[in-house]
This record gives sequence, C-alpha cells and structure tokens, in this order.
Amino acid sequence: MRILVLGAVGLLGTALSATASPDTDLVGLAHHDCDVTDFEQVAAATAAHRPQVLINAAAIPHTRACEVDPVRARAVNIAGARNCAQAANRYRALLVQISGNIVFAPAEHPRAEDEYPDNTDGVLGQSKAAADSAAVAADRLLLVRTACLFGNHADGTPGGLIGRILATPDGATLRMTRTATNAAHTQDVATAIHRLASELHTGTYHLVNPRPTTPYELARAVAARTGRIWNIEPTDLGTPRLLATGSATAAGIELRPLPIALDAYFAAMAAG
Ligand SMILES: NC(=O)c1ccc[n+]([C@@H]2O[C@H](COP(=O)([O-])OP(=O)(O)OC[C@H]3O[C@@H](n4cnc5c(N)ncnc54)[C@H](OP(=O)(O)O)[C@@H]3O)[C@@H](O)[C@H]2O)c1
Repeated sequence: MRILVLGAVGLLGTALSATASPDTDLVGLAHHDCDVTDFEQVAAATAAHRPQVLINAAAIPHTRACEVDPVRARAVNIAGARNCAQAANRYRALLVQISGNIVFAPAEHPRAEDEYPDNTDGVLGQSKAAADSAAVAADRLLLVRTACLFGNHADGTPGGLIGRILATPDGATLRMTRTATNAAHTQDVATAIHRLASELHTGTYHLVNPRPTTPYELARAVAARTGRIWNIEPTDLGTPRLLATGSATAAGIELRPLPIALDAYFAAMAAG
C-alpha cells in the first residue's frame, strides 16, 4: 500500500513513519517539502506519489501558537484539511485527517465519535473543529481524534506534555491540573492508524487510551519512572474533554494500557 504523510516530521508524523509495516510504501513530506496551505503543492505531491492513503498530520496544534498567529493557524488547520480533502478526491485516495479532543467543549461525559465538534473557545479549538468539517469534503474520510500524545520528535527529543515535564529542571515546581484527559503513546496511535487505513476503514475513530488520567498523575508517573524530582503541585479540577472509544473497540483496536505504554516509552528512552 502506498501512503503519503504530510507533516511527517511532527510528533505523530514521526511515529507514522516509524511504525509503517515493511510492505508499506510510505513517503513522508515535511513542511518544507509540501505546505498544506497551498493546494497546488498538496496536489503536486499527491500526483507525484499517487498514494492510496493520504495522511494529513500537519497542523498548528498548540494553543499558544494558534493565539499568537491565528491567521496562520486557520490556514494550516482549516485550509490544510480542505486542500488535503480535495487532493485526495482528485487522486482517489483515502484521506486520514488527524484531529483531537480539543474540537469538543468540556463536558461531563466522554464525547462519542458522532457528536458534532462544538468548541467555540479559542483559535485552536475553533480551527480544529472547522478542520473536521472541512475534511468531510473527502469522498473517503478516516477521521482520527486523539489526545495528550507522548512520544519523540524526529530528532529524538521527547514531545507533548511529557516532553514539557522532562524539560523542567529538577527541583522546580510543576503545577499540574487534575482535569481528566485521555492520553496516548504516538506509536500506539500510529500503529492503529496504519491498521485502520490498511483495512480502508472510513468514519470517525477516537484513538486514545480509554482509561483517563490527569496531567498531575502523568507528572507523578514520569517522576516515578525516571527518578527525577520535582515539586508536583495539583491545581484545578476542571470539566474534561474525554473521548469515547466505541468505534475503535468495535474495530478490535484497543491501545496499550497507559502504565504499560509509559513503561515501554521510558524503557526505550533508557536504552537509547
Ligand atoms: N500532540 C498532541 O498531544 C495532540 C493531541 C490531540 C491531537 N493532536 C493532533 O495530532 C496531529 C499532529 O500533531 P503533532 O502533535 O504531531 O504536532 P507537531 O509535532 O506540531 O507536528 C505538526 C507538523 O505539522 C507541520 N506543519 C505546520 N505547518 C505546516 C504547513 N503549512 N504545511 C505542512 N506542514 C506543516 C509542522 O512542521 P514545522 O514545525 O516545520 O512547521 C510539524 O512537523 C494534529 O492534527 C494535532 O491536532 C495532537
């Protein structure tokens, strides 16, 4: 199967390249190879590689970056999704659009796959919710939502919330929310995406560890596994944005339990 990944050197893009099966012909393009805001570039890349599956892992996925430059954030997140949908249609590829729990407003219940994105608060939430809608233009769409990813960037540095925790100097105070979230190892999410794509699934799938955690618990889990010492202080207890995983379960996909995925992540890091 031929797969083209855009945004291929991001956190998830890196894991998508690393977890592709040997019989997969995967081409990953970084931002400088293909800018998703430019339809002609997306179309040219798709024409050159003629993938059966086009994965859009390009995004501006961070709250602060989106607030600092909302025009760019909307261009990458929304126009990028639209351009990928149009290119996928032109070359008859399945579009895999990556999304997240941020498309939903906080709620007491885990959000089901068929619930409509309703986050109107902030550029990130608004633009990723609009990206979900833009991607629906794809004739064949596999929409994947995930949350609180951990894994390594292409240069081997830890990313996501755990990357930020590890970058905090020993002895410093880490103020961490007790608001529940799902989390997931990028390798587990990428492996699940490859499986769904290879089976040409369409529809919406939430790929997260179904058992919720909190950033506070995650920081404590990181400290326990690394021997690092921080003063970890719990902060607020807000309304979560949890994702229900019914579609994935029905497809026979369950991510590794979080403690096992964390053990594997830190064991690989220790092994170098
Ligand atoms: N990380 C999480 O915890 C999390 C949680 C939920 C959902 N997600 C979703 O997962 C997806 C991947 O996120 P990630 O964590 O892998 O983010 P990431 O590490 O920031 O990767 C995003 C990639 O997109 C690239 N990019 C930015 N603008 C681009 C453009 N105009 N054209 C092409 N590429 C561009 C970036 O390249 P440059 O840096 O070179 O610009 C970067 O390599 C996103 O859709 C995100 O919303 C992530």
